[in-house]
Amino acid sequence: MNKVDYLRISLIDKCNFRCQYCMPNDAELSYILSQELLTKFELLTLLKEVFIPLGFTKFRLTGGEPLLRQDITEIVEEIANLPETKDLSLTTNAYLLSEKAESLFLAGLKRINISLDSLNPDTFDRIIGNTNKSRWQKTWQGILKAYEVGFNPLKLNVVIIPDINEHEILDLAELTINKNWHVRFIEFMPIGNNQLFSEKAWIPSSEIREKIKNKWGLEEANITGNGPADIFKIPHSKGTLGFISQMSECFCDRCNRMRLSADGWLRPCLLNETGQINLKQALRDGINTSEIREKVAQLLLIKPDINFKQRDAGTDMYDRTMSQIGG
Ligand code: GTP
Ligand code: 5AD
Ligand code: SF4
Repeated sequence: MNKVDYLRISLIDKCNFRCQYCMPNDAELSYILSQELLTKFELLTLLKEVFIPLGFTKFRLTGGEPLLRQDITEIVEEIANLPETKDLSLTTNAYLLSEKAESLFLAGLKRINISLDSLNPDTFDRIIGNTNKSRWQKTWQGILKAYEVGFNPLKLNVVIIPDINEHEILDLAELTINKNWHVRFIEFMPIGNNQLFSEKAWIPSSEIREKIKNKWGLEEANITGNGPADIFKIPHSKGTLGFISQMSECFCDRCNRMRLSADGWLRPCLLNETGQINLKQALRDGINTSEIREKVAQLLLIKPDINFKQRDAGTDMYDRTMSQIGG
């Protein structure tokens, strides 16, 4: 059985962007009330008394947009200082990174994954649902700041959407030639009643890989990470290319993670609702952490049977958006 030692922790479901593939039905979204968010103290209690004793050593902070959490730097510092933490990383849209990169780095965060779907300001604004002043420049500044501060590896996540940013595959891949950046192409998943998603809404990694290979050639490579990406590189380039192919090649049999939502639900699978437990409620109801740990241990035993393939019969699309589940 695969070792499950990676916890993806959503800190908040709100976001300062409205990426069409992630928060498509904004009008219908209701956000978690602030008093329902797991507090820093509750999170640390769960890590120290439940997850670490069960063997979890790798943690990723996500959202929504985790930099919107006021206490983000303290959360990073406390998790980075836990002696059992082997890996701590964060997934962000980079909009607030120019201000926060340095303090996060000093607090102990050493690597970071950034969503960036386009190098063209107009396309970028269209994808992130922005109708006001362009957000591209500040996002790009955030990425440059993260690079300058020394985050390593620095990964850029790209979701390719047909007819929207498909024509930028080579431009985005080219970023890895002269910079030690790691661009990952993610197949678009049918989450959150997404209007963008149709029969041919996702482009298989194999097609993207072929396009890049035809232009520069590709060789196998490796990079620090706990995720499902298959890694390659353009010969002689400084960075790498990753392909995350959850639609074309199910990787559930090597799944090593669980997810904790911002309101404290422990979720064994991104795409399957089965087995969830509300750990925040358990803490607030005064349930002893040894009892909570036992419940999580039971869930770990059945986790291999809860996956994308076995997801709730008849459900093709998930009502919960990626921002609500925790990307
Ligand atoms: P590294 O440790 O850097 O390898 O991180 P990662 O790839 O796990 O993290 P990141 O937050 O950058 O996630 C990238 C993408 O991988 C997500 O947006 C999802 O599309 C996909 N992904 C991550 N975890 C899962 C999962 O459990 N199931 C599925 N189906 N896709 C996932
Ligand atoms: N399909 C694939 N990836 C998605 N992300 C958000 N929504 C989707 C989706 N429907 C990705 C973002 C971000 C990561 C955390 O999740 O690109 O980088
Ligand atoms: Fe926000 Fe990230 Fe979702 Fe975009 S992908 S709406 S940046 S949480």
